[in-house]
Amino acid sequence: MRIDIISIFPDYFAPLELSLIGKARAAGLLDVRVHDLRAWTHDRHNTVDDTPYGGGPGMVMKPEPWGEALDEVVGQAPARLVLPTPSGRRFGQADAERLAEEEHLVFGCGRYEGIDSRVAVDAARRMPVEELSIGDYVLNGGESATLVMVEAITRLLPGVLGNKESAVQDSFASGGMENLVEGPVYTKPSVWRGQEVPPVLLSGNHGAVDRWRRDQALRKTARNRPDLVAATPEEALDRRDREV
Ligand code: ADE
Repeated sequence: MRIDIISIFPDYFAPLELSLIGKARAAGLLDVRVHDLRAWTHDRHNTVDDTPYGGGPGMVMKPEPWGEALDEVVGQAPARLVLPTPSGRRFGQADAERLAEEEHLVFGCGRYEGIDSRVAVDAARRMPVEELSIGDYVLNGGESATLVMVEAITRLLPGVLGNKESAVQDSFASGGMENLVEGPVYTKPSVWRGQEVPPVLLSGNHGAVDRWRRDQALRKTARNRPDLVAATPEEALDRRDREV
């Protein structure tokens, strides 16, 4: 997969050199290119923003550098454009799974009050464009939201996670966990500060372990995420689920 990121703060993406994403890049599974939007400005001050038409506080990102940047970056290979913004549709695990299937993603990181709205309209003439929000709060720009989405997407690429199974058991994962958060996890020692690991996990009975994990996921979801329980269709629950 190729990912291009356009931002006025390319240094923000240094963490993409680390850990699993850094390893995936080094292994050639992932090609990440970070671009400085100011490279597509033509004035002495490398201006990327201006005052909003209609008045009001703050600044709006000018369309010209964005238009040129997208022409050049996307001109190289067909892409889907993601624009992180608090006014976008909410990004979730299903989006991460869907976007992980793409060959080429471009993230356009807005700052200030956002990017001139004509940029998304113009881009949509040539490529699929989606505005995505990572949650109902306002960040200083799309950079940290892009880091979040890139991590959620790239960990699903074949070969990025050490253990193929682990993504399937994750909270929200399709294939059984869609509307569930993962329950508690334990490792050695089996007794720590007077607390014992639940005996079923030491039993070696995989069926019983799976059932216990699902029960715990259902309970934790009910406790922490009643909104998800309300969104779960009755058919998604088996007989044992209903007893939890
Ligand atoms: N930019 C600013 N806030 C954001 C959010 N919550 N999600 C995505 N992009 C953003």
